[in-house]
Amino acid sequence: MAPSETVSATQEKPISTIVIIIAMQTEALPLVNSLQLVEDKNPVFPQGVPWVRYVGSYKDLQINLIWPGKDSLFGVDSVGTVSASLVTYASFQALNPDLIINAGTAGGFKAKGANIGDVFIATDVAFHDRRIPIPVFDQYGIGARKTFSTPNLLKEFDLKSGKLSTGDSLDMSTYDEAAILANDATIKDMEGAAVAYVADLFSVPCIFLKAVTDIVDGDKPTPEEFLQNLVAVTAALDRTVIKVVDFISGKCLSEL
Ligand code: ADE
Repeated sequence: MAPSETVSATQEKPISTIVIIIAMQTEALPLVNSLQLVEDKNPVFPQGVPWVRYVGSYKDLQINLIWPGKDSLFGVDSVGTVSASLVTYASFQALNPDLIINAGTAGGFKAKGANIGDVFIATDVAFHDRRIPIPVFDQYGIGARKTFSTPNLLKEFDLKSGKLSTGDSLDMSTYDEAAILANDATIKDMEGAAVAYVADLFSVPCIFLKAVTDIVDGDKPTPEEFLQNLVAVTAALDRTVIKVVDFISGKCLSEL
């Protein structure tokens, strides 16, 4: 079978295995409960890593929610691009999903129409803290790519959509700010473009659902605003993820 035929055959087969990558425990646990997932007692990941897989059947889907766990040295959630790319890689190897969903929180730009509690679907992703000022390496560093297109899903739920910019910092340096502006981003996170990079390596479609906890171009300090809104905004994120999973159930990739 020619590669193009393989891709279209995959697009027409009902989606059955989903991997949901979520960086923070606070974001993951409400979804684990809502979808009645259970922690995998026979881990598919190498021994000793903190990565956690919650698994279950939901409608006709096998759902695997992957949380990178707590850092073994510092005891906090393993946020950021390094852990995100490792767990995406390991999840693909172990589970061969039809679709990946990266769900999480993000900072939003009010100048681009983002408000606290909005849930965005990312149309594009790029990095804003990989500066390599040498021709072509500069573009590689930014790593801009389009995400898997889901026109029907967008129509069904009236989600906001926009470009996502990813970096390994919660705050924003002036260098980052210029790069985020150049990326034309509406939202800013710490994992998306890394998950997209790995998903693209394996040609697995990936959807990015990001809920806004803080306004980056507002007047409140980001860490405080983020922590203050985390729990409430996570509830909005979870409701959206469940609606999206319900929508996906029984459909092929080409119907999304
Ligand atoms: N996640 C939530 N808010 C964020 C921000 N401002 N920057 C990066 N990641 C975030």
